[in-house]
Amino acid sequence: MAERYVMSIDQGTNSTRCILFDHRGRLVSVAQREHHQHFPRPGWVEHDAVEIWQNLQRIVPEALSGAGVDQAGVAAVGVANQRETTVLWDRRTGAPVGRAIVWQDTRTAPLVEEFGERPGEEFFLERCGLPPSTYFSALRLRWLLDHVTGLRQRAEDGEVLFGTMETWLIWNLTGGADGGLHITDATNASRTMLMNIRTLTWDDELLAFFGVPRPMLPEIRSSAEIYGEARALLPGVRITAALGDQQAALFGQTCFSPGEAKCTYGTGSFLLLNTGNDLVRSRHGLLTTVAYRIGDQRPVYALEGSIAVTGALVQWFRDRLGLISSAPEIETLARTVDDNGGCYIVPAFSGLFAPRWRSDARGVIVGLTSYITKGHLARAVLEATGWQTREVVDAMNADSSVALRQLKVDGGMTSDNLLMQFVADVLDVPVVRPLVAETVSLGAAYAAGLAAGYWPDLAVLRSNWHRAAQWLPDMDPARREEEYDNWRRAVERSLDWVR
Ligand code: G3P
Repeated sequence: MAERYVMSIDQGTNSTRCILFDHRGRLVSVAQREHHQHFPRPGWVEHDAVEIWQNLQRIVPEALSGAGVDQAGVAAVGVANQRETTVLWDRRTGAPVGRAIVWQDTRTAPLVEEFGERPGEEFFLERCGLPPSTYFSALRLRWLLDHVTGLRQRAEDGEVLFGTMETWLIWNLTGGADGGLHITDATNASRTMLMNIRTLTWDDELLAFFGVPRPMLPEIRSSAEIYGEARALLPGVRITAALGDQQAALFGQTCFSPGEAKCTYGTGSFLLLNTGNDLVRSRHGLLTTVAYRIGDQRPVYALEGSIAVTGALVQWFRDRLGLISSAPEIETLARTVDDNGGCYIVPAFSGLFAPRWRSDARGVIVGLTSYITKGHLARAVLEATGWQTREVVDAMNADSSVALRQLKVDGGMTSDNLLMQFVADVLDVPVVRPLVAETVSLGAAYAAGLAAGYWPDLAVLRSNWHRAAQWLPDMDPARREEEYDNWRRAVERSLDWVR
């Protein structure tokens, strides 16, 4: 019998990817398409959900033909997605209500103050694991309900549906207006501020507090179980997993045991530490989130340090400043100089996320002199990612009381050797990258393949993990401390910019 594969769909901030994996977790074929980023006003970031669905309709057949199979060669489909991005659509027509509001969007900053004050941060951390922030879906949803005429009534009547991107795609894949499934998984729901982090159900008190009508919410399912048939694109093939992309990466890195951590370097960067079945409350600015839930097993939790802007800073350097023409060139440019020349960039484009959670922070470049070249700026761009990782790791070490001994990394930026060396240097621990760097896609495939019986258990998945690269720390400790101090002083500037 011909070999069958597991299909993974990764709907990310910049593009949507479809990848087929074989039994050994090897990538068999890949198709990808970018979608437009809309910045209608300062701080606003939007996506066209229809464009994303159309992109998926194109790349699925491309990935199949790349592997030389049709849908009969697909054992199951798993979906991973950019989290928190909020999309609403009409249940009968499938037409979205405006554009999706992206996780980086800061239009709800005034609502953070209004809603955050009562009943206070502690209440939210306890109830949903998250501090009030522009980052999560609830305030975006509230903003839409307040700003789109007639929306609240339609939502209360069940005519308008809410979802994050996996919900939108699964609804379309399973039939759309013609009986599509309206579901989410516990990892994605854990990013809305509407789910009780302990019971994994929508929380009545939170819904009432944010004024969200229950009929518009999807059903919360586990991350790996048989949801339904992807009949719109793949008749006969079942969708059997959904996870937020960062949780998918944790799964793809096979961080199945408490204490194991990974950091994915993409548009933003996200460090997740598996804390097992225990709900760990952070005292140092990290999030408590659902790592995954397999079928009806107990949920596995994680502590997360979310960094809003890392790869996005390189894109800004390329697209808005035009100082490089492709992202990998940043390394070449940075290598034209020996150090940052005293220059630091704090990319608080969406405020600052972990560990500070300051929606009002704004980006700064400090230390400019006429000595500074674009090479120094390129270094400062890369170093910003290193220092932001360091701040998150410090918080994690303080919360978990066991110091991180090595960091598994993945994502597009890990092909930058200068950056990965810098991360190892500032963390003072080894940094390792697996052979399959597409861990988001791999994790969604693993979860889907487990639910469909394609893989028998976690041990088999673990045996697929192979180290491809390692960076060992090599920085003078005194210099590290001095540089870290400079970075923190630069962060102070970004915090006191807005009065
Ligand atoms: O929380 C946001 C995150 O899920 C986005 O990830 O890789 O699509 O930028 P990415």
